[in-house]
Amino acid sequence: MAEPYLRVENLQKQFGPFIALGGVDLEIYPGEVHALLGDNGAGKSTLIKTLAGVHQPSGGQIYVEGKPVNFRSPRDASSAGIGTVYQDLALNQLMSITRNFFMGREIKGPLGTLKMDEMNKIAHDEMLKIGIDFSDPTQAVGTMSGGQRQTLAIARAIYFGARVLILDEPTSALGQKQQMEVLKTIKRVRARGDIGIIFITHNEIHSKLVADRFTFLALGKVIGSGTLQELADEDIRKLMAGGAEMADLEQELAAI
Ligand SMILES: Nc1ncnc2c1ncn2[C@@H]1O[C@H](COP(=O)(O)OP(=O)(O)O)[C@@H](O)[C@H]1O
Ligand SMILES: [Mg+2]
Repeated sequence: MAEPYLRVENLQKQFGPFIALGGVDLEIYPGEVHALLGDNGAGKSTLIKTLAGVHQPSGGQIYVEGKPVNFRSPRDASSAGIGTVYQDLALNQLMSITRNFFMGREIKGPLGTLKMDEMNKIAHDEMLKIGIDFSDPTQAVGTMSGGQRQTLAIARAIYFGARVLILDEPTSALGQKQQMEVLKTIKRVRARGDIGIIFITHNEIHSKLVADRFTFLALGKVIGSGTLQELADEDIRKLMAGGAEMADLEQELAAI
């Protein structure tokens, strides 16, 4: 297999005495969707915030294309090709699609005037590449569906250089049709072949629809990882529940 674009070795993060990440290993390859699964409190958000330069690790090492890196800020991570799409998407509903696409990175002419035509075209074309043909990017983001907003945030991250795209629960706040739209977008990005995706989800079905590889976190540790072939179906159910015996819990539930 090719070199992983991103590699994490024994990553640790403590908040005071509390160990949120207790030594996590992870590899992200170009052209691969890597599902990161785990119950609430498992450490998923802490892990991706550390990869995104929001948190500094307490131990361990992050490597980008084989070289050790230390992200002191989200800007560092973003310049290294780590693009993060958070659940709230960081979009301004009242502003146009194009203005949201560029937000702070506008293309300007010599006198500082915004090159709106050029920016509209880029915003339109970049979103079209991954599946939405929004003919009028001068419309406000508020007019877009939840799935389209995800696509906008993803297209923006890619245009500005993401080689690893971190998607934090991109399907969790959406209706079922919108969820399928987002999964389609994820597959289209995957099909480019040059971008690795970390897909954080609570949803086992969604992860199986798009992911090549799975990592399960519980209490800050990796409790299982591998391809679908490597992980038997029943294992996945146990791993989703943080290693607890789901069957026991279901029996208890049925007994009430
Ligand atoms: N900034 C913080 N300060 C203290 N504890 C935190 C902080 N962020 C997360 N935690 C704790 O770390 C654990 C993992 O949280 P988190 O990474 O958000 O899990 P997940 O995203 O998998 O639900 C939780 O017990 C949470 O309370
Ligand atoms: Mg979280």
